[in-house]
Amino acid sequence: MRRLLVGIVCAAAVSGGAVAAPSQPWRDARLSPDRRAELLLRRMSLDEQIALLHGHFPVLMKAPLPGAPRSAGFIAGQPKFGIPAITESDASLGVANAGRDSDDAAPLPSGVALAATFSPALAFDSGAMIGREARQKGFNVLLAGGGNLARDPRNGRNFEYLGEDPLLGGTLDGAAIRGIQSNHIVSTAKHFALNDQETGRQVLSANIGEAALRESDLLEFEIAIRDGRPGSVMCSYNRLNGIYACENPWLLTDVLKRDWGYAGWVMSDWGAVHSLAAAKAGLDQESGTEIDKQVFFDGPLKAAVKDGEVPAAKVHEMAHRVLRGLFAEGVFDHPLAPGGLDTAADSRVSERVAEQGAVLLKNAGGVLPLAARAGKIVVIGGHADIGVISGGGSSQVIPKGSVRMPPPKGAPAWGGGVVYHPSAPLAAIRARAHGEVAYVDGADPAAAAALAKGADVAIVFATQWSSEGVDTRLNLGEGQDALIAGVAAANPHTIVVLETGNPVLMPWLDKVAGVLEAWYPGALGGEAIGKLLFGEIDASGRLPISFPKREDQLPRPELPGLKSAMPEGGATAQPEPPFDVAYAEGSDVGYRWYAAKDLKPLFPFGYGLSYTAFRYGGLKTLGGQGLGVSFTVTNTGARAGIETPQLYLARGPHRTQQRLLGFTRVALKPGESHRVTLTADPRLLADWDVAGHRWKRDAGRYEVFVGPDAADAALKGEAVLAAATLAP
Ligand code: BGC
Repeated sequence: MRRLLVGIVCAAAVSGGAVAAPSQPWRDARLSPDRRAELLLRRMSLDEQIALLHGHFPVLMKAPLPGAPRSAGFIAGQPKFGIPAITESDASLGVANAGRDSDDAAPLPSGVALAATFSPALAFDSGAMIGREARQKGFNVLLAGGGNLARDPRNGRNFEYLGEDPLLGGTLDGAAIRGIQSNHIVSTAKHFALNDQETGRQVLSANIGEAALRESDLLEFEIAIRDGRPGSVMCSYNRLNGIYACENPWLLTDVLKRDWGYAGWVMSDWGAVHSLAAAKAGLDQESGTEIDKQVFFDGPLKAAVKDGEVPAAKVHEMAHRVLRGLFAEGVFDHPLAPGGLDTAADSRVSERVAEQGAVLLKNAGGVLPLAARAGKIVVIGGHADIGVISGGGSSQVIPKGSVRMPPPKGAPAWGGGVVYHPSAPLAAIRARAHGEVAYVDGADPAAAAALAKGADVAIVFATQWSSEGVDTRLNLGEGQDALIAGVAAANPHTIVVLETGNPVLMPWLDKVAGVLEAWYPGALGGEAIGKLLFGEIDASGRLPISFPKREDQLPRPELPGLKSAMPEGGATAQPEPPFDVAYAEGSDVGYRWYAAKDLKPLFPFGYGLSYTAFRYGGLKTLGGQGLGVSFTVTNTGARAGIETPQLYLARGPHRTQQRLLGFTRVALKPGESHRVTLTADPRLLADWDVAGHRWKRDAGRYEVFVGPDAADAALKGEAVLAAATLAP
């Protein structure tokens, strides 16, 4: 009887969250997460606490663990305390299906496509969508969006990240995290920090000065963590200034936990723990222990406590952070209820990202939109008859109907090849075209050119695969440049649709009429491309990453760690021995580098065409304690469209550095004007003062500009600001 009563009281506590069984006071959702964690920890033995601090990698386990989905991470629950099992899934671009063949989760477009929307609202919606799917699929911790800055346009994981700017990336990352966590599950910010290339990621040391780091990669995380409050943060594989990120006390304890007041837990990347020093440095949880040399955060940690080498209070603090994170997001109070997935509705969220994130880079003579053209269309290459390409690695989502192709020559097959999501651009074009639509795969460039010759329009689909564990080349590869050049020579109305994870060089740019960068467009990517090509919606994406003209424009023309020329399929694997990457450009990442060196990229950060035109006017600036601007944007064209005005710092009183200070999206009908106000984020007006350990803004004159991209100062202004300091 007594047992039955306890069961009833506990059930009430779990479902409503407000009533606690007297014996389990931590179940009372009215108490603070910290208080609840403490109440629970009082009852837990050292072994029970340590059980929270290391996780399995179910995909690699021969015998499945009871209750563990086949995914990236699992820690068994402790039912006697009501601690739920921690079920982790990768989710940079949707709930990933590690080890499964096909699935009902909706794949999002690449992160860089999301960044190209410049839309925190859409970032929230896509986070909310994958968070909902995660609950429905039985996951309560998502190893979600990466926030690494695109320091190198060849980083093979840029497609999972949010571009090269700390304000844009951090703001969108924060919004996506909030979206995920709105489902009472935990989101993770990763990979902390400076895992900015894949070549040698487990051995390289990313070397950079403190101020430069705080003003760039760390600023992205600072903004994301401040805005999103993720329950967990994942430390990265690489060393930072010589010390592994997961055992770097400066990074994990001084910056993250002390300076930023981060209250959640730090988990390691899979296989990124090398010693118990990690616990002392600030790592709270060792992930994916099946691939570690040793499970450091189990027996060895217990022995270190017994020997007095690690204080018991340290283990208590580590377990506190894990429990606190779970309590804070409501994981205890809102148990998972698997089932009820609506893939079609979720795919529509993905489609909105693809629609708003594709960037129209060239549109000579108004070749697009195609709606008005009645003649024959020839579609060439890129497996446009099958679907749209996606990125590989742990973030891979493989929906039902996907088609796998072998990876390009020389590239490793991570997760079974190159996955095409089943949304064929060819079908979307056929559904909209007025005349005949022919298709050739482009394997025979001469035949493709001959077919293009007689057509009104030729659309070449060009793809480049990226994957975790591999960096990319700047060339499209696989003979696609020659294919495009040949088709363009045969037909002046040649349009190139790029499906790439990274910027690519375009030796044929002058010869083609149109270029649309569609990135990896996800679940309904083909449909989104069709709508954009035919002008059913405006082209409104803007580049979140600069496109270089040539490799020699980059801070490091050659990718560090490469032992020989990069093979066709990209650089592979983990070179030994360890090597250094000197980030000598400091915080001059991306467009800041081009501005500092007075270089003209192929396409600048922020750039993208619309099907209409906009005029900027009437800039007013406001200085004093903060910087604000107002200005008018007018749609001067004949169609409705969306503009993304951007506010940049050009020069401060004592330092010249271009910085994005603010941005927004404005939808305007033909002839319509809108008065836009933007306020600069205070951290972006300040420099990091190493000696004073704070953000410091000098008094004086700040030159700013407003425009459609980082290289177009449509309106220039200045403001006089008072000196200010800001705590980290
Ligand atoms: C990746 C992480 C991922 C983890 C688990 C690692 O290889 O770097 O992003 O979350 O695997 O799959």
